[in-house]
Amino acid sequence: MRSIIDIVDLSTDEIDALMQTASDIIADPDKYADACKRKKLATLFFEPSTRTRLSFEAAMLELGGSVIGFSDANSSSSSKGESVADTARVIGCYADIIAMRHPREGAPYIASLYAGIPVINAGDGGHCHPTQTLADLFTIYREKGGCNDLTVGFCGDLKYGRTVHSLISALAKYHNVRIVLISPDELRLPGYIKKEVIEKNGMEYVETKSLEDSLPELDILYMTRVQRERFEDLEVYERLKDSYILTAEKLQAAKPDMCVLHPLPRVNEISVDVDADPRACYFKQVENAKYMRMALILKLLAEKDEPEADGAEDFVESELLKCSNPRCIVAVEQELKHRFKCTDKENGVYRCIYCDAKAK
Ligand code: CP
Repeated sequence: MRSIIDIVDLSTDEIDALMQTASDIIADPDKYADACKRKKLATLFFEPSTRTRLSFEAAMLELGGSVIGFSDANSSSSSKGESVADTARVIGCYADIIAMRHPREGAPYIASLYAGIPVINAGDGGHCHPTQTLADLFTIYREKGGCNDLTVGFCGDLKYGRTVHSLISALAKYHNVRIVLISPDELRLPGYIKKEVIEKNGMEYVETKSLEDSLPELDILYMTRVQRERFEDLEVYERLKDSYILTAEKLQAAKPDMCVLHPLPRVNEISVDVDADPRACYFKQVENAKYMRMALILKLLAEKDEPEADGAEDFVESELLKCSNPRCIVAVEQELKHRFKCTDKENGVYRCIYCDAKAK
């Protein structure tokens, strides 16, 4: 059963095919109006969302299917202590496909092991948000004619920003993409993404604290919100929350065809005076997301009955290894076994199969 937990679960050819399907849906929506007739999408949102949940639901409705689900963990039996695995097993009896958002990193992966139907990760903590990445790539593709030969700046919370992590992993699959990482020291991109994604794929990158200095060289500026909900120490959040504010005045230094992207919601990091600028593409991103989610639902449902690839995952279990990530699903679900994959044999690096954090 194919699930999409991380953007790297899709090849570049598959992402390009999804963009072709999304373009075709835009050109001829009537052709797809009954494509998911009698199919049900379950949206399991244990964490707040406006865009992702509603665009998944709109996507399924526009494909002629229907939607069940919840938008608040407190209205589900997880509030009584039901595990993610049991929840997934239950929903697998009612629906054909699941979109799940969860504050615990690795929760959608656990769901994919037990649901018996495809699971799409709609955002798990600070880990991954693959369908936002599909929306980001489709927007870049539509605005720039492709995803190669670009200088892409990521600005703001690069530490906890799951959309940043997923988009960098996706761009690593394209050619000649240069990355500019703009953040305060406390919110720099995690070292393992620099090492295991950017450097491993031979991407050129720089780190800087200055948005103003970086702006003139960028083809894409990906702004992010400093996420209050990810901070354990709110004093640190208060100190960092206004680190970067893009204004119409600052935008004057940018290329005339630069695209400003933002996964949204924004707080104040993009001033509303930027919205009227033709380079502001973040509301186009919202619309593109729905078409890419339609394309992904179609693909996963079409593949559902195909024989499974030999995908048994190799993992290591040992009393000596524990996941180091306090936000991982294994930190709260006691029945789950800590399991690891070796990502760097030379240096003996083991990473959690659920959330990718290092073993301790
Ligand atoms: N971009 C995004 O994930 O938005 P929501 O949190 O509103 O779903």
